[in-house]
Amino acid sequence: MAAAQECGDPVGVTPAPRTPGSALPRLEGRTVVVSGASSGIGAAAARRFAAAGATVVPLGRDPQRTGALAAELGVEPVLADFTRLADVRRAAAEVLERCERIDVLANNAGGTFPQRVTTEDGHEKTFQVNHLATFLLTALLRERVEATPGARVITTSSRANSFGSVDLDDLDTSSGRYRSFKVYGTTKLENVLFTRELSRRLGGSATASCFHPGVVGTAFGADSPLFRVLYSPPLSRVLTITAEEGAAPLLALATRPDPETVDGAYLDRFAPGRPNRQADDVALARGLWERSAEMVGVPA
Ligand SMILES: NC(=O)c1ccc[n+]([C@@H]2O[C@H](COP(=O)([O-])OP(=O)(O)OC[C@H]3O[C@@H](n4cnc5c(N)ncnc54)[C@H](OP(=O)(O)O)[C@@H]3O)[C@@H](O)[C@H]2O)c1
Repeated sequence: MAAAQECGDPVGVTPAPRTPGSALPRLEGRTVVVSGASSGIGAAAARRFAAAGATVVPLGRDPQRTGALAAELGVEPVLADFTRLADVRRAAAEVLERCERIDVLANNAGGTFPQRVTTEDGHEKTFQVNHLATFLLTALLRERVEATPGARVITTSSRANSFGSVDLDDLDTSSGRYRSFKVYGTTKLENVLFTRELSRRLGGSATASCFHPGVVGTAFGADSPLFRVLYSPPLSRVLTITAEEGAAPLLALATRPDPETVDGAYLDRFAPGRPNRQADDVALARGLWERSAEMVGVPA
């Protein structure tokens, strides 16, 4: 419970700058939970939040990388492999034990996987890591988020959502050929649908937004031959921005003074984005929510 006492009163914020090097508003008394904090965008964001005075809860899979980042920030890591829903439940319990408030839940963990793999929970891995585990984590932390004035749920989606196609009867891509980029795009579209439905269900008690970070030079796609080419020198020098630049839209969403103006929104970095047409399908968003709730055993 010691860490819960670190969570103090909220402070006023001023608009976040858009460039990675410039100062954030002070965030003392705020608690920020970041998934995928062991690497890339999540690690860069966690460092910036901590430097601005926030209490950061770094949630990661890899014990070494997550532990090193946590040690750098002077906090304890929370470990969870999103391919195991039991891990997500344990991690959520740990977060609730440690923090009395959650000002920002940054749902950032994600990846793309070249082969179709089934998790021990029986789901296609990309769907579980990028959508279902995030859905469960958010469901388990939701009450604490809603109890925190001005809280925000921010999910790292991708412009790849345009290539996705959600089929409520085949969320685990059990039929047809497994095409990793299409499946990845579908899960990133699910991030947008999840954000819109969450926003509707929160009804203003907290806000929900998602964003495309840019093409960011991180460990993203390290297992994929295609992404390895795109994300390694020399192509990466012209195609990608830094993890710090990729984290900038997340920092901006977390600290902007008018989060209600982006409630339910998908941003392409800092500007309103144009997601896949399916993102506007309210019934699809509700269906995805209900099926996800059923899959992870939480009330819809
Ligand atoms: N890089 C881009 O160009 C780009 C573009 C659009 C969207 N995005 C999105 O940005 C987010 C962050 O990616 P990144 O670019 O920063 O790549 P990254 O450096 O590979 O970071 C991905 C994070 O997700 C975590 N993760 C992966 N599989 C996991 C699992 N099974 N359980 C728990 N955590 C897991 C990783 O943990 P480990 O350290 O243990 O692997 C890592 O912390 C992702 O959601 C990605 O889809 C990235």
